[in-house]
Amino acid sequence: MEIFKTKASLHAFLQPLKASAKKVALVPTMGALHSGHISLIKLAQQNADIIICSIFVNPTQFTDPKDLEKYPRPIEHDLAMLADAGCNGVFMPNVEEMYPGGADEAWHIDLGNAEFLLEGEFRKGHYQGVTQIVKKLFDAVEPDVAMFGQKDFQQVLMIKNMLAHFKLPIKIIVCPIIREDDGLAMSSRNIHLSPIDRKNSLVLSKSLQFVIDHFNEYPLVELEEKAKSFYNNIDGVELDYFTIANGDTLEPAKSKDEENLVALVAAKVGSTRLIDNMIIK
Ligand code: PAF
Repeated sequence: MEIFKTKASLHAFLQPLKASAKKVALVPTMGALHSGHISLIKLAQQNADIIICSIFVNPTQFTDPKDLEKYPRPIEHDLAMLADAGCNGVFMPNVEEMYPGGADEAWHIDLGNAEFLLEGEFRKGHYQGVTQIVKKLFDAVEPDVAMFGQKDFQQVLMIKNMLAHFKLPIKIIVCPIIREDDGLAMSSRNIHLSPIDRKNSLVLSKSLQFVIDHFNEYPLVELEEKAKSFYNNIDGVELDYFTIANGDTLEPAKSKDEENLVALVAAKVGSTRLIDNMIIK
């Protein structure tokens, strides 16, 4: 497995492969890898010849500098996992390589109204930062396909909107959420959960599963209210939002007959903010 710290060295590696018609997949990550990321690598291998994983903790998508500082960076462990998974190359630039003029570089594109909903309400400007770095990574790799996890449902939507904005010919493949045996969605942030937080964190998947299991039983409003009531009286858990939304717009669903419905949740468990979702239909 090759390691690249500069766009130039990555380009030099990819150029001859592309010239010989090899299909390239990009798996963008911020490191602190877990089985969810490895499932992206595995799916990438089914869809391309060469797999490049990027590891870059992107400063422009963090709204809280403390969150950026405490973001886990177990790089040796990450590299071992990627080598083991058969990844071909890892792109791990530093901040100067991606933001030569500084991380306050101007960027603003129209991502549609969904940018301002859900995560957008709690993390102002987050998706501008995400799309800014993903565009830079796309420019550096020029992949045929790029892999993203369904866990960041809104992120996938924003990246698809960015792709449409720039008319980039890249296929986005979305991988299902990988869960621990007890239902907790895998996330790099889970390592911050104390034992009691870890137990409490199960409320996210349980409330979502409730919606899936009882979708045909209750009217929409009641279903959502019942799911929200899971969060009542759990010490150390603070619900940011629980919504049954239209999966294309992220606006609250108006009717159960809508085509593309998804339940999404965000909650602070101890000092760790977790998100999760389940696709209803
Ligand atoms: O999902 C992530 O890990 C990040 O938001 C991404 C897509 C790698 C951009 O920094």
